[in-house]
Amino acid sequence: VLEQKDAAEAARCPHAASRAPTLDAIPGPTNWPLVGSLFELLRKGGLRRQHEALVDYHKKFGKIFRLKLGSFESVHIGSPCLLEALYRKEGNYPQRLEIKPWTAYRDLRDEAYGLLILEGKDWQRVRSAFQQKLMKPTEVVKLDRKINEVLVDFVGRIGKINAGGKIEDLYFELNKWSFETICLVLYDKRFGLLQEKVNEEAMNFIMAVKTMMSTFGMMMVTPVELHKSFNTRSWKDHTAAWDRIFSTAKVYIDKKLKRNAIRAPDDLIGDILHQSDLSKKELYAAITELQIGGVETTANSMLWAIFNLSRNPAAQRNLLEEIREVVAPDQDPCGEHIKSMPYLKACLKESMRLSPSVPFTSRTLDKDTVLGDYAIPKGTVLMINSHALGSNEEYFDEGKQFKPERWLRENCTANPFAHVPFGIGKRMCIGRRLAELQLQLAMCWLVRDYEIVATDNEPVNVIHSGLLVPSRELPVAFIRR
Ligand code: HEM
Repeated sequence: VLEQKDAAEAARCPHAASRAPTLDAIPGPTNWPLVGSLFELLRKGGLRRQHEALVDYHKKFGKIFRLKLGSFESVHIGSPCLLEALYRKEGNYPQRLEIKPWTAYRDLRDEAYGLLILEGKDWQRVRSAFQQKLMKPTEVVKLDRKINEVLVDFVGRIGKINAGGKIEDLYFELNKWSFETICLVLYDKRFGLLQEKVNEEAMNFIMAVKTMMSTFGMMMVTPVELHKSFNTRSWKDHTAAWDRIFSTAKVYIDKKLKRNAIRAPDDLIGDILHQSDLSKKELYAAITELQIGGVETTANSMLWAIFNLSRNPAAQRNLLEEIREVVAPDQDPCGEHIKSMPYLKACLKESMRLSPSVPFTSRTLDKDTVLGDYAIPKGTVLMINSHALGSNEEYFDEGKQFKPERWLRENCTANPFAHVPFGIGKRMCIGRRLAELQLQLAMCWLVRDYEIVATDNEPVNVIHSGLLVPSRELPVAFIRR
């Protein structure tokens, strides 16, 4: 009787695992032997334009498609309902694609893994040590004083290096700002990157992070073991950069660990260092990876927010009005003010939808999973295309326009799974709250003191270089109000 009942239920349910078509039935672009769709992707502009190719593929094949590049196969999802289904079926230890050059370095030097590369129970242990403090808005808001300390210097520097409104290499300036902020939060240390004369230690540190980031991409698409055996330039530079990063970070973590006295209320990291039962080696790796995760992503999001405000003067005027209503002229904007600034939050959200920094994240399925019409086997790599989701007119009316109003409570109809710039679920970005506060405060300080204007209205193309970056120096100027 039970068997008959099961069979009847299976017949009624179109998504029953046993009946759902598997991987091979998922549509996708040409899949040639050995190369897969590599040549097609190159014809579409190569890896630097891969985000556009993915949007095209979603238009052509729908919510889900399968893509093979050389030997690397992945299934791409670009619809809120599939993302929600994935979220609902998430296990305890969601996995992302392995960053092999990083794990190879840690194994070589016998260093631990941090949150970006840990898996399984070890990931969960380290994550929970940081989660309480970093993901709780009432904790993170305490960091506003540190964030503001650096913003005072940043806004001052914008005034000093401003040549007729133009800032040379704005992106590098923003990277120095976010680097300085995250170092103050993590190590209680000012590196002085926003001073006129940057000291050697600070410059070496920031350059090491830059080198490490620019050398790992090549070793993601070619076997890292080969680079290691032949001691290639990429491997040598990558290893030397990590050596420098770890040796500097360890000095400042050790200093914090030695300070056992009463901690300031905003010393969230001090609390974690002293209260968690993670080993010293685990703390070194976890803190170092927080730093790596937090620098360019935040700088890049600020760059795009500046650009979007420059092209949308009406939105910028509304924002200025809100800032002036909430923050008195003799006050510094702070975390408490942000709570009463819905338009500011909407501007940031809209900028991250229209111009996300991270175009996609990934999950490696740890069990067979039915998604939509397909039964997808364990081990499959899923790509979550946040850029494709955010630019899809099906989910956002007039999706090419910058319309912060769409996020205001009275107008908001967006599906939360259509806007995922920080990823989803248990493995979502752990720096999200910090990044949002840092960006919101930076927007307040900048817009209050400067009118951000567009110096031309030509299109600015976007290229993929790990993050989505503008193809040219942004045509913006800062005019003192
Ligand atoms: C993970 C985006 C700022 C540290 C991630 C992920 C995304 C992301 C998309 C992958 C999430 C997933 O797979 O579901 C961003 C953006 C930022 C930002 C757009 C700035 C606007 C930060 C900051 C920190 C940070 C400030 C450090 C304080 C991390 C870490 C992970 C992560 C450690 C791995 C978390 C885990 O796997 O448990 N971020 N991030 N990020 N981010 Fe961020």
